[in-house]
Amino acid sequence: MRILVIGNGAREDALSWRLAQSPSCSAIFATPGNAGTALRGQNWTFPGTYGKSIIERARYEKIDLVVIGPETAIAAGIGDQLREAGFSVFGPDRSAGRLESSKVYAKRFMERHGIPTARAHVVHSRDHARKTLAEWGIGGVVVKADGLAAGKGVVVCSDATEAIAVCDDWYDHNRVPGGGNDVLLEERLVGREVSVFALCDGRAIAPIAAACDYKRAGDGDTGPNTGGMGAYSPASGFPENMNDIVRERILSPVLRGLLAEGEQYLGVLYCGLMWTQAGPMVIEFNVRFGDPETQVLMPRVHGDFAALLKSVADGAMDLSLATIGGDACVGVVLATGDYPRTNTPLQGLGAELKLEPGTAAFWGGSQLDNGKISSGGGRVLTVTALGPSIAQARERAYAAVRALPAQLGTNELTFRSDIAANVATPTGSDEHA
Ligand SMILES: Nc1ncnc2c1ncn2[C@@H]1O[C@H](COP(=O)(O)OP(=O)(O)O)[C@@H](O)[C@H]1O
Ligand SMILES: [Mg+2]
Repeated sequence: MRILVIGNGAREDALSWRLAQSPSCSAIFATPGNAGTALRGQNWTFPGTYGKSIIERARYEKIDLVVIGPETAIAAGIGDQLREAGFSVFGPDRSAGRLESSKVYAKRFMERHGIPTARAHVVHSRDHARKTLAEWGIGGVVVKADGLAAGKGVVVCSDATEAIAVCDDWYDHNRVPGGGNDVLLEERLVGREVSVFALCDGRAIAPIAAACDYKRAGDGDTGPNTGGMGAYSPASGFPENMNDIVRERILSPVLRGLLAEGEQYLGVLYCGLMWTQAGPMVIEFNVRFGDPETQVLMPRVHGDFAALLKSVADGAMDLSLATIGGDACVGVVLATGDYPRTNTPLQGLGAELKLEPGTAAFWGGSQLDNGKISSGGGRVLTVTALGPSIAQARERAYAAVRALPAQLGTNELTFRSDIAANVATPTGSDEHA
């Protein structure tokens, strides 16, 4: 099988790494790809939203499977375009992609189909927001811009006054993140967050694994919000039958809803959950794999992952093609010191990293030139390690991180030192894929 991965982050590097090792994969391509995918296969130059160029080249290269990484490509309708052109595509159409690209659509969908989620109101203006908050008399409230905002569209507030200040700022200066006017005011939930990944082939939906990630820049969950500074899998501290609960309360009604509304969903559904005293509530859906969660999921996969994704893309999911192994995986993100304020590019980084068996390193946005790597900065690299327990995976991951500056030739990268610290290893929480 000749496979194309769309995207250029560490998520796509991890996907292409696992796909390339699949028995059914004969050639791997990425567009636009990064330094990691360039070391493994061929990069095309088109951004992930250039449907026409991608289709033309994919025909020429006789691509058998396209795996879409980023939500921006899905929201741009790249899945629709490629499928119309006859390709097998892992990733939903734009319409089902609204589960991520519109938080208002997702909230209404959950309300229509009885999927547990925080109560919410949709507002369209500054005065509407003020009036709604005054009448609602709610305590903690989360203010969410409707559209895709690259992680910058959500503000968690401790009371209505704070929420009013956020809405005033967005509406008065005409800067609702992601554009548009719709803002969701949502009840603030209390619990523990977990990301559950489920595969859906339009007829069936099944959880394959769960992970926990770390969003704040600094140790102890301090500092600004980021795209994610690390993750571990399996998730720890949740009921042993969490997969059954998620399947029954969330995944089954999602599938019923999709079918009832005529949405065809082929790909992965990432359920961002808050596990509350009353069980799991959906914080958000993403319609693609997560970053950095994918970097800790891919090392745990055994079998023919490419064939599994192809079966999903073809509407005939065969979960026996690949499984999630019993080992735990911990991933630590190395970022430039100024992240997330700005991203300072780095040049001349070493490309040949010597890594112990069971460890891997996945590049963020970067390029390979003459054996050296230039990075766009920000989240430069995710280092992962497997282990029989989370603690042992963590030890190995940090040992690999400590050995990297010498090999990369830079001391400018920072990382959190508490990823997966003090996390117990759960027993039997991940479903076989
Ligand atoms: N209803 C809620 N209650 C408590 N925390 C929330 C709620 N909604 C969102 N959050 C917090 O805000 C973060 C970002 O929200 P999310 O809906 O995932 O938006 P996005 O990932 O698009 O920025 C979540 O990971 C969670 O920590
Ligand atoms: Mg989120």
